Amino acid sequence: MNTEEDIIIFTLVYKNEAYQVQTSRNQYHTLMTLISDYLALPGFGLCCGMRSCGTCIVEICKKRTAIKKSTLSCDVQVNDELANTIIFIAAVVY
Ligand code: FES
Repeated sequence: MNTEEDIIIFTLVYKNEAYQVQTSRNQYHTLMTLISDYLALPGFGLCCGMRSCGTCIVEICKKRTAIKKSTLSCDVQVNDELANTIIFIAAVVY
């Protein structure tokens, strides 16, 4: 059973739609897997986390700053660093 301390909350944004995500700390290993499960975007994460396709790029923005960090979501662990962030998913082109 999850307690409030086990829950991480953040926002995914895809094509100007915002999705509030609530997950437990150990539910997903990478952000790419979580996004695939939540949004099932065709063409997203084509190499299944091998860091070779570049289709899983996201921009992570801390709510209190305007600084965005662009990164491969398959290279991001789902942990406390994602709490209260806004994660922008690039439109997938394939
Ligand atoms: S899933 Fe291919 S680079 Fe991340």
